[in-house]
Amino acid sequence: MNLDVLEAQAKACTACRLAEGRTQVVFGEGNPDANLMIVGEGPGEEEDKTGRPFVGKAGQLLNRILEAAGIPREEVYITNIVKCRPPGNRAPLPDEAKICTDKWLLKQIELVAPQIIVPLGAVAAEFFLGDKVSITKVRGQWFTWHGIRVFPMFHPAYLLRNPSRAQGSPKHLTWLDIQEVKKALE
Ligand code: URA
Repeated sequence: MNLDVLEAQAKACTACRLAEGRTQVVFGEGNPDANLMIVGEGPGEEEDKTGRPFVGKAGQLLNRILEAAGIPREEVYITNIVKCRPPGNRAPLPDEAKICTDKWLLKQIELVAPQIIVPLGAVAAEFFLGDKVSITKVRGQWFTWHGIRVFPMFHPAYLLRNPSRAQGSPKHLTWLDIQEVKKALE
């Protein structure tokens, strides 16, 4: 098994209701041997159109965050909890997230075998922390999931809605968080 074979299988997936509304399956992309894996929530409109994760406005902000910290996007593996766009960009429902992560994300993690996983936002953080979480409380802290270091951060879509860069703002905290990730990769 490798990521290309797994992706080909995912492209044909109809295991949950999200298959009905999608244009494309957004499997994930990046370095198959990445030390860092970033996990978002699910594809939005642009991702659904292009088949690539984090290419819309939130993705462009993610690119700027990575670039500012000196982490090349091509060196990272980027994917989502669910691979098909939820209608109207709603959050994935628990059964959709469970089906999709069992089928695809767990295998992606096994194949990429990253040292560090950064879940973006509460939906992704909950998958790794195993419980409902407040992203404000868990971001910027290290956790361990099956021997992998996990460091939740704010979702860039949240940062777009909270643009202040003041001391202690979500954007300021994210800048500190990404530098911590960069340091951990060195
Ligand atoms: N938001 C996400 O969580 N994932 C994407 O791929 C794009 C936007």
